[in-house]
Amino acid sequence: MKAKISVEKNNVIDKIDRRIYGSFIEHLGRAVYNGIYEPTHKCADELGFRRDVIDLVKSLNVPIVRYPGGNFVSGYNWEDGTGPRHLRPKKLELAWFSVETNEVGVDEFQEWAKRAGTDVMMAVNLGTRGPDEARALVEYCNLETDTYYANMRRKNGFDKPFGFKVWCLGNEMDGWWQICHKTAEEYGRAATEAAKVMKWVDPSIELVACGSADANMPTFGEWERTVLDHTYDYVDYLSLHCYFGNYDGDTKNFLARVEEMDRFIKTTSDICDEIKSKKNSDKTVNLSFDEWNVWYRTKDEEKKAEKWQYAPHLLEEKYNFEDAILVGCMLMSLQNNCDRVKIGCIAQLVNVIAPIMTEEGADAWVQTIFYPYFYASLYGNGKALKVGIDCPSYKSKEGWDVPYVYSSVIDNEESGELVLFLANRSLECDIELVLSVDGYESLTPIEHIMLYHDDLNAQNTKDVQNVKPKNVKIDSLNATLKKHSWNMIRLKY
Ligand code: AHR
Repeated sequence: MKAKISVEKNNVIDKIDRRIYGSFIEHLGRAVYNGIYEPTHKCADELGFRRDVIDLVKSLNVPIVRYPGGNFVSGYNWEDGTGPRHLRPKKLELAWFSVETNEVGVDEFQEWAKRAGTDVMMAVNLGTRGPDEARALVEYCNLETDTYYANMRRKNGFDKPFGFKVWCLGNEMDGWWQICHKTAEEYGRAATEAAKVMKWVDPSIELVACGSADANMPTFGEWERTVLDHTYDYVDYLSLHCYFGNYDGDTKNFLARVEEMDRFIKTTSDICDEIKSKKNSDKTVNLSFDEWNVWYRTKDEEKKAEKWQYAPHLLEEKYNFEDAILVGCMLMSLQNNCDRVKIGCIAQLVNVIAPIMTEEGADAWVQTIFYPYFYASLYGNGKALKVGIDCPSYKSKEGWDVPYVYSSVIDNEESGELVLFLANRSLECDIELVLSVDGYESLTPIEHIMLYHDDLNAQNTKDVQNVKPKNVKIDSLNATLKKHSWNMIRLKY
């Protein structure tokens, strides 16, 4: 089988906003406690953060991390996580039925973020709380005024403001499972009033309104329209979330689901533009895809787990090789839609549906999905080019025509490289790549990285890296994409 990939130097989608390579850490399971934070670990720094985890996060060059939730944020009192640690309250946490000790809060997390070389994307509680606490948190984090909350931060040892730029107005408020779930009308009003006062406190912040919890929500579409009708003038982004799973073992169909992600993005950006023209607005609301990943094996685990544990083992999805191919495709989708998607957060980063795993008292290790994330973040920078794909296709369960090859191509003018990301979704055939480029004088191969395993179910463990990238010999522009593989090809111009 052959696949022709065509790109033209001048046919640019947009410059990639590096924040599409963001991630997410929620107070959930062992993401924070015994994840990024384990004060008794041999690698712990003076604040209790694991240096080995920080090093892995740094290796991914993560630009932004959403915090502290997720569902958690809808019941969170941010003040509980500030001030002297011995005075912090231990509370029942109702999103995941755990105990929250508040040993880590915004003060510590912003320190962790600095150490990990990333920015914080802060979320406010619009479930049990509202505009008052949200504006107080913006003052606490971002202001230099001689006023109560800014002074409270100083008293807690932080003279300089944290300077958080991007803020989420709650989380998945359309979901019945959310603490204090709201109708679109209720959320639209609450988000507008919170947004107003938050921006009055700090006009430089950017705000993300909640879109649907996923494209299959019964209210998808209407939710977005109603929420934007209220919030359009006050917000900068609308959120999208989606998690895929191979529930019936049909891998070809599973790998086709990235097409659904593309359609989800298109429909949502069309709705943003529909409200833009309805309001006759000059402003474009862009998209924040602030939760995405493969997640199905450990769904609803919290319902079966023993309640009120500290740092329980929850949502510790063990990723296999086929998951890594789909995650690689989802990253390509974010790149191909970079004209509208400005922020993306793989959910999550450590232990909870995560590329990075920790063992208490032992070493950290990486799951299969770590690798496509690593290469996309390191090499997927520059301008995304419109990709023409000419290759045989198969039918997805929805009856869509799905080309066997899924791809994105990035022109990195700084390094003078054309970077191709490619997945071969055929389970039987290798595919010969035929590259047609316009506007580049000469191209010479730098490297071809391939993620491949014979067994689609192969997993990494704390002891063995079964699935890891290999360098494939490449001397010309002709490359072979092995059956069911993820690939990155770098070319110098
Ligand atoms: O990422 C895990 C959970 O998935 C988040 O808390 C929630 O926002 C989503 O439903």
